[in-house]
Amino acid sequence: MAPAGEDPGEDGLDRDGALPGAGCQRGSPEGDGASAELALLVSGMADRCALGKYVLRRFSRDDLEKVIRINEECLPEHYTPFFYLDLHQSFPNSFIVAELNGEVLGYIMCRVEWSLSEFDRWRLVKKGHVISIAVLPEHRRKGIGRALMVEAMKALRDYGASEIYLEVRVTNHPAISLYKGLKFEIVNRIKHYYSDGEDAYVMARKCDAGIED
Ligand SMILES: CC(C)(COP(=O)(O)OP(=O)(O)OC[C@H]1O[C@@H](n2cnc3c(N)ncnc32)[C@H](O)[C@@H]1OP(=O)(O)O)[C@@H](O)C(=O)NCCC(=O)NCCS
Repeated sequence: MAPAGEDPGEDGLDRDGALPGAGCQRGSPEGDGASAELALLVSGMADRCALGKYVLRRFSRDDLEKVIRINEECLPEHYTPFFYLDLHQSFPNSFIVAELNGEVLGYIMCRVEWSLSEFDRWRLVKKGHVISIAVLPEHRRKGIGRALMVEAMKALRDYGASEIYLEVRVTNHPAISLYKGLKFEIVNRIKHYYSDGEDAYVMARKCDAGIED
């Protein structure tokens, strides 16, 4: 991530322990079953979507303290409260939290930038940048990270991004595996990117490759 300065079972999961599909259902309040709880779409993106008992929804200012705590527990890259709120104000649709029984347990936040394409260095393009994603340890390997990524990627595409990129520590194998599974490829390695000297991979994908549900 970017360094600082920049048949659901008892637990809501299917029998394999995975969430039933990474993408959110776009439900209507009149729908039946789980979708009955879902709000209507806004700008092509669900305000809330249910993944078993887990819910993905947009970040709100009331979530700030919890998101900061998750960030501090899960990642060495920390940000000021202003940084979170500024991202939220500018790109609210790609700042998403996951919750269970009203408790926030994961988040993703992103922004949109104009810069040179990761695939064609001569072309200026609008790019989605995944700034930070984290899921609390006890809720990992249940599909939440993937679901957060998929919903954020859709939001970035809807903001007009033609590519999405992120930085990841070269030793962060879980995250690298998550991104590879979502068709990201390693396009660059930045030496000593992190404050402790570790290198970062830049991973990127095009939006026209199709964002899976
Ligand atoms: C990276 C992170 C967000 C993944 O969240 P998650 O909810 O556990 O991810 P998912 O359950 O959606 O996993 C999706 C895929 O990612 C890969 N993956 C996730 N955790 C993995 C692990 N520990 N080892 C290997 N692959 C892993 C797998 O391919 C997995 O698919 P599978 O479960 O079908 O094998 C989470 O591990 C985390 O918060 N880590 C600390 C913060 C961090 O590193 N953020 C990323 C910074 S770039």
